[in-house]
Amino acid sequence: MMQIVENIAELQCVLTRWRQAGESIAFVPTMGNLHAGHMSLITAAHAKAARVVVSIFVNPTQFGPGEDFEAYPRTLQADTQQLVDNAVDCLFLPSKEIMYPAGASTHITVAGLSEQYCGASRFGHFSGVATVVAKLFNIVQPDVALFGEKDFQQLVVIRKMVLDLNMPIALQGVATVREADGLAMSSRNGYLTPEQRKNAPLLYQCLCAARDQLLAGMTDYHAISAEYTEKLNVAGFEADYFAVCRAEDLQPAQPEDSRLVILAAAKMGKPRLIDNIRVDLPRSG
Ligand code: PAJ
Repeated sequence: MMQIVENIAELQCVLTRWRQAGESIAFVPTMGNLHAGHMSLITAAHAKAARVVVSIFVNPTQFGPGEDFEAYPRTLQADTQQLVDNAVDCLFLPSKEIMYPAGASTHITVAGLSEQYCGASRFGHFSGVATVVAKLFNIVQPDVALFGEKDFQQLVVIRKMVLDLNMPIALQGVATVREADGLAMSSRNGYLTPEQRKNAPLLYQCLCAARDQLLAGMTDYHAISAEYTEKLNVAGFEADYFAVCRAEDLQPAQPEDSRLVILAAAKMGKPRLIDNIRVDLPRSG
């Protein structure tokens, strides 16, 4: 039976019972509108701990002015059914008032990492993410928390926060789940018109082609970035960035680096699509 709880005291009652029984807890934070990508985090969570807690909270502080906070898809009934079907033990559904009581004034900013890439065009976004995730971690106190590699920069920001603040939580990244044509699943794909949806897989195709160039030995990362930015723009995207980075800290990749990630973001009509691909070069670095 999945327990659905809306306030912190009730949640902690449930969690305390499990902890006293010696059961470990895995946590998957989400903003709802759940799809197969979220479900793969839940499957991975079951493999890591005896109990799986999922939160659904559309976090206002990570949306900028003019972004889609109001319009963000809220599909609680369908979400709840999927969570029950995937044997989730507890769904935490806090209100805005519970997460951000009047007067709250503490924010977490992972400096440096948060201003690049998505942070450059979404000012304050990662501070909103880090703050809400830190709060959720303190409320749930999980043994392990799971995040999708789809939002690679988010995962790196959370890893850094956990390290810097000595949070006693293991983090696990989970591979991106894609549609049959390669498009990374995302709650925002629903904003695409049928025509845009047909063109959207180009983002992942560009990432795969760039990866193949890196694997073939190409080291001019700026040229790769320029080539695919142009290709996306010609195809009707508005490319935001297409960058070859060091996977560990997202610094621009240097010739001696071997563990890389290519990060890409591009607007296609209303939504801004993001995706990435890991590349491990067969050299010591
Ligand atoms: P949301 O976009 O709902 O995503 C919740 C989790 O699902 C994140 O860890 C995200 O990376 C993962 N995810 C999304 N699409 C995925 C896909 N196609 N494959 C694999 N995993 C995928 O990310 C957030 O919410 C919020 O920023 C949050 C962390 C909950 C803080 O508010």
